[in-house]
Amino acid sequence: MTLSITHRDPAALGGDGSILMRQRRDHARLDTMMNRWLAGGPADELDALWRDIVQLVFSHAFAEETVLWPVLRRVAPDGGELTGRVEEEHQAINELVARVEKSPDDPRRAEWIREAFTLIRQDIRDEEDELLPLLRDAFDDRRLRRIGAAWETVRATAPTRPHPGVPRRPPGNAVRGVPLSLLDRLRDVAPVGGLTVRRVAFTAFAAAGAAGAAVAVFRAVRAPRRPGGR
Ligand SMILES: [Fe+2]
Ligand SMILES: [Fe+2]
Repeated sequence: MTLSITHRDPAALGGDGSILMRQRRDHARLDTMMNRWLAGGPADELDALWRDIVQLVFSHAFAEETVLWPVLRRVAPDGGELTGRVEEEHQAINELVARVEKSPDDPRRAEWIREAFTLIRQDIRDEEDELLPLLRDAFDDRRLRRIGAAWETVRATAPTRPHPGVPRRPPGNAVRGVPLSLLDRLRDVAPVGGLTVRRVAFTAFAAAGAAGAAVAVFRAVRAPRRPGGR
C-alpha cells in the first residue's frame, strides 16, 4: 500500500534536498498563494499574485513532465496509467489558464481561476498520495536527492506560462517547451532594457543546460529497481 508523502517526516522522504521534499514545499507554497488569492484584496495585488501562481505552476509541471514522469513510468508497473492521469490534469490546467490569459476582461475570469485552483489541488493530491510515494519505494535517499537536483535545474529554466499546444511527454515537450521558456521569461521581465537583455541572454544559456539536466537525471536513476523496493 502506498503511503502519502503529505505528513511524513522529512527524514523518511530523503531529507530537504530530495525530490519528495522539494515537491511538497512547492505544493504548500501554491496552496498558500491560492488561499490568499481566494481571500480577496485589491485588484493589482490579486493580479500580481495570479502571475506568481502561474509562473510557479507551469515551471513546476514542465519539470515533472520532463524529469519525473518518465522515471516513474520506468520503475512503477502502473506508472503509465498514473502519469497519464496527471498529464491530463496538466493539460486541463494549461487550457484553462490559457483561456484566462487570452480574455483578461471576461466576466467569467474569476470563475475560471477558481476552477484552475480546483484542478491544481486535485493534481497535488494525486501526486502526494499516489505518484510520489512510488518514487520513495523505488529509490534510496541518495537517488531521491539526485532526482531532486535535476528536477530543480530543469524547473529553473522551464516555461512559465501555459502552452496547451505543446505535448505533455518527452521528447516533444522538451523540444518545443525549452525554446518557449525564453519567450515566457522575456515577457516575465519586460520591458526590454540593457539589464533585461543580459538576463535573457543568461536565461538562454541556462535553458540550454536544462535539456542536459534532463539527460542527467535519466543517468542518475538508470539503475534498475532493487528487489523488494528500497
Ligand atoms: Fe507537483
Ligand atoms: Fe503536477
